[in-house]
Amino acid sequence: MKKTIAVLPGDGIGPEITDQAINVLKTISNMYSFDFTFEYGLIGAAAIDKTGDPYPAETHDLCKRADAILFGAIGDPKYDNDPKAKVRPEQGLLKMRKELGLYANIRPLKLIPGLESKSPLKREIIKDVDFVVVRELTGGIYFGKRGLNETDFSAFDTCTYNAKEIERVSIVAYEIANKRNRKVSLVDKANVLDTSRLWRQIVKNVAKNYPNVQTDYLFVDNAAMQLILNPRQFDVILTENMFGDILTDEASVLAGSLGLLPSASVGDSVSLYEPIHGSFPQAAGKNIANPIATILSAAMMLEMSFNTPDAANLIRRAVNSAIGSGKRTPDIATSNPMGTKEVGAWICDHLERISEYSNYYLFEEEKAAW
Ligand code: IPM
Ligand code: MG
Repeated sequence: MKKTIAVLPGDGIGPEITDQAINVLKTISNMYSFDFTFEYGLIGAAAIDKTGDPYPAETHDLCKRADAILFGAIGDPKYDNDPKAKVRPEQGLLKMRKELGLYANIRPLKLIPGLESKSPLKREIIKDVDFVVVRELTGGIYFGKRGLNETDFSAFDTCTYNAKEIERVSIVAYEIANKRNRKVSLVDKANVLDTSRLWRQIVKNVAKNYPNVQTDYLFVDNAAMQLILNPRQFDVILTENMFGDILTDEASVLAGSLGLLPSASVGDSVSLYEPIHGSFPQAAGKNIANPIATILSAAMMLEMSFNTPDAANLIRRAVNSAIGSGKRTPDIATSNPMGTKEVGAWICDHLERISEYSNYYLFEEEKAAW
């Protein structure tokens, strides 16, 4: 298998965590005799510094010809603290999502064994939690008409959706639910917003094609509460862009750390894989960021873009072993934290050990995790 992977490390901890995911992909490609080429592109503040543009045309061309995209993180405090900045790193991410037609963001959440005590929720609430959020990614308030009037100090952002945009992301959610526990929970604010009422109408129609999938409807304020009261009730959560942004950050801490959750953005053609966390500028260059969310994003790439679920599951097994045997970065360590590079290297070594011996042999370190 010969594939070109576009690598967009971005800002903050982005370069360090993508390095580790690439090391894992290289280890896997040796084990399975895959032929991966990694081509690097600029995005975000790193791209503004070098080119003035947060998503340069060369990066877009690279993404279009790649078989998959591995993305790190975006954002730099120098822009966060400057509301007047005309060019912002996040514009690069939004432009990329829009121009590549990445309309569905898939964020799975499953508790990794051994991390129960790191979750802010009680063990009995968090146990066996396993759901997927499907977030619409190229519409809504993120992309609607907006304006800032500097003379009367007023501003507006508008949320717009059309039927087509709602339908295509809903199909993604129902397809996923159909292969899982057959339940979609649509999260909206249909008691207030017209866009939400349109979502309900379209989703009801899509649901007719999936008679085996149950549909639930929740207002977003209630959903925010249900996520911490009873997260086990969810299988697939389907929601619009901004609600999805907020709820996935909330959901991520259920698993013990924002540094653990991968995501895939899919749509018209090439797919993009990225950790759900941000650029964590305070940690940049310190070798303390958790590389696992990005490593698990690489696993999603292998499964979804390259159709190699065995390789993806091997990575997941190695990640569980690392966590189960205490090879952890400070965000999830209980004692003796390890660095970003060291955790990545341990996972690569472990993958090699698994391949050298047997796929079925359980190492001492793994037993804790199983
Ligand atoms: C995310 C991020 C982005 C978003 C930011 C960086 C623009 O928070 O991917 O969740 O809001 O979509
Ligand atoms: Mg977010």
